[in-house]
Amino acid sequence: MPQIELSGIRKAFKVYERPAGRWGLLKGAFKREVRSVTALDGVSFSVGEGELVGLIGPNGAGKSTTVKVMSGILTPDAGSCVINGRVPWKARVAHVSEIGVVFGQRSQLWWDVPVSDSFSLLRDIYGIPRERYESRLGGLCGALEVDSLLKTPARQLSLGQRMRCELVAALLHSPKLLFLDEPTIGLDAVSKLALRAFLKDENARSGVTALLTTHDMDDIEALCSRVMVIGRGKLLYDGGLPGLRERYAAYEGQDTDEVIARMYEEEAL
Ligand SMILES: Nc1ncnc2c1ncn2[C@@H]1O[C@H](COP(=O)(O)OP(=O)(O)OP(=O)(O)O)[C@@H](O)[C@H]1O
Ligand SMILES: [Mg+2]
Repeated sequence: MPQIELSGIRKAFKVYERPAGRWGLLKGAFKREVRSVTALDGVSFSVGEGELVGLIGPNGAGKSTTVKVMSGILTPDAGSCVINGRVPWKARVAHVSEIGVVFGQRSQLWWDVPVSDSFSLLRDIYGIPRERYESRLGGLCGALEVDSLLKTPARQLSLGQRMRCELVAALLHSPKLLFLDEPTIGLDAVSKLALRAFLKDENARSGVTALLTTHDMDDIEALCSRVMVIGRGKLLYDGGLPGLRERYAAYEGQDTDEVIARMYEEEAL
């Protein structure tokens, strides 16, 4: 049985809009227009243990929504999702004990306390035995080079430093599965390379399955043998990067960003 199995997942959001213009604010207090935005329009895929899968697509395509459904943060309107044998939003506690999640745009570290305190809190939350915690923490801090940052409050870290700490936090309880939503956003070249190398190594060593969203095609090229393209809430491609290039490259030698831009154009995304 695949580790992740999504079938026909749909999710729409209600968006409340107030009339535009000077009087909009006042009118909006009495009457708000409600519009439904379809974020996911029947998404189905499965992922096997140990796979490294990239999820790409233009802004607003539904990538983060997919990650939120798989993490148990959002309940879809329709469809089924079974991960590690559970329905994420129904068995949240058991589910989160087996997954690690990083949202590049948001921090899971407590903002005002030293990073090491956040890690200790997570140790207690996940109930990680002390000895296992110490060795895991040591290993992760060494690999992601965060030893010198442990006493610093999260709010004083640079983006790249914080992202490395976020990964430590997500991996402390040795999850079987990692969901990374734009983990390399805003990172400098050195940090990006280090993060990619770490993920590749962690996958090879512990067989962790990882699904990551990104706008950086170098992430996909470096890490993922499989790429899924999502556009307007629908899965448009699921396969290897060479296959995607074959389908959309106008000429030999076009770089991956150009191929992806052409695909978004041709599919009118
Ligand atoms: N909480 C929400 N309320 C209303 N609409 C939402 C909400 N979350 C997402 N959406 C809408 O759902 C659609 C999909 O959003 P989502 O965040 O999944 O896109 P994305 O592929 O992650 O985009 P990006 O590359 O910009 O991060 C968008 O149209 C977005 O406006
Ligand atoms: Mg997103």
